[in-house]
Amino acid sequence: MFHFDFRNDEALRQDPWAYLATLDDLPDIFFSPDLGGYWVVTRAALIDDVFSRHDLFTATSLAIPKIENAPVLIPNHLDPPAHTAYRKLMAGSMFSPRALAGLEEDTRRFARALFHAFPSGRCEFVHDFAYRLPIDIFLSMMGADLAHRDECLAFIKGIFRGRTVEETTAGFHAAHAFTTRWLTEQLADPDANQGGMFRAMVEARIEGRSLNFEEMLSITLMLLSGGLDTITSQMTHIMRFLAESPKHRAFLVDNPDAIPVALEEMLRRFGISFIGRAAADDFTFEGVTFRKGDPVCAATPIAGLDPRAFPDPLAVDFGRGGEGRRVKHLGFGSGPHLCIGAYLARTQLRIMLEELLPRMPGLRIAPGATIENMRGATMMLHSLPLEWQQG
Ligand code: HEM
Repeated sequence: MFHFDFRNDEALRQDPWAYLATLDDLPDIFFSPDLGGYWVVTRAALIDDVFSRHDLFTATSLAIPKIENAPVLIPNHLDPPAHTAYRKLMAGSMFSPRALAGLEEDTRRFARALFHAFPSGRCEFVHDFAYRLPIDIFLSMMGADLAHRDECLAFIKGIFRGRTVEETTAGFHAAHAFTTRWLTEQLADPDANQGGMFRAMVEARIEGRSLNFEEMLSITLMLLSGGLDTITSQMTHIMRFLAESPKHRAFLVDNPDAIPVALEEMLRRFGISFIGRAAADDFTFEGVTFRKGDPVCAATPIAGLDPRAFPDPLAVDFGRGGEGRRVKHLGFGSGPHLCIGAYLARTQLRIMLEELLPRMPGLRIAPGATIENMRGATMMLHSLPLEWQQG
């Protein structure tokens, strides 16, 4: 038994990955008495198993510590076979090329507009960019008014950054109230909304019928809670790293075609998500006896730092996957719940680098700035004041 509290450990505040890399010294699976007691898996191959073996590790209880009567978010909180039909429907319609048409152009346009709105030669990257781009893209794809931005960001921060169960629960309630109100308005005149994702959801068929209101509500809440804080968090760590590593930054400015491959290495190195599961029954796995309901943490940052899967794991090596090839990692999970928004996330991250890096010569973190990680189920920087030379 070892203490590890991914929500509160002080060591996660400064350089979480350096600390998480030390878990390599611990057993492949260990029990932590923190957060109500839960299992932590430290090997990439076993974390992959936890994601994939839904017969052993159920997604119906994801929160660590457990939340009683947590809302069921489709499709993440369902196991196959219930999960399968929704997953197919979402992948085939809401995340189809047709529903995402215009994503590339919109993302580029929004990214440029955000850059031009920065004060000259500096920004506070977390709030001026990383929070803004994903929410504006999401609201646009849902055909929602951008005026809802602040309300949405407030409840997303509550859900992910709440310091107590009460604050997190209040975030969920606010998200539920907003989504109920917004969907009710949209469904009163669905043809008036031309957002690609909204239209796909309204036109989708499951077992020959349309989605009902509760299903649409659950899916929309899932996308709001799964698809925004994650991209924002990932953006903050990647920009921090590049601001501190002129060598890697210069390479990407000189070789923009290498950005997609480099991005995968940064997604591996700076994993952000502590994903929960629960033992589906009493069983023994890798010599460990699990009891039905035991919470299990499969963390993508821990998977990315496993030296058996990634030698010298703390080094950022854009060539790690082999010449011109993407390194395979678990940053978007794996198995039935593999992130459905990965294409959306990769597009925004790539365009962020393509649009911002060439416009920020001499990029650096503002001298004297305190850079701290906010803890939680995903890790994000609190703030990231950046400076660069004016062109
Ligand atoms: C860098 C950004 C992102 C990261 C790191 C990320 C990470 C993940 C991970 C690790 C999972 C697996 C969860 C599990 O196994 O329980 C997941 C699932 C999911 N993600 Fe993402 N995600 C990102 C962006 C997005 C975006 C932009 C969306 C949509 C707008 C999205 C929607 C979802 C959904 C719906 C699932 C559940 C899929 C299922 O249950 O079949 N994610 N994500």
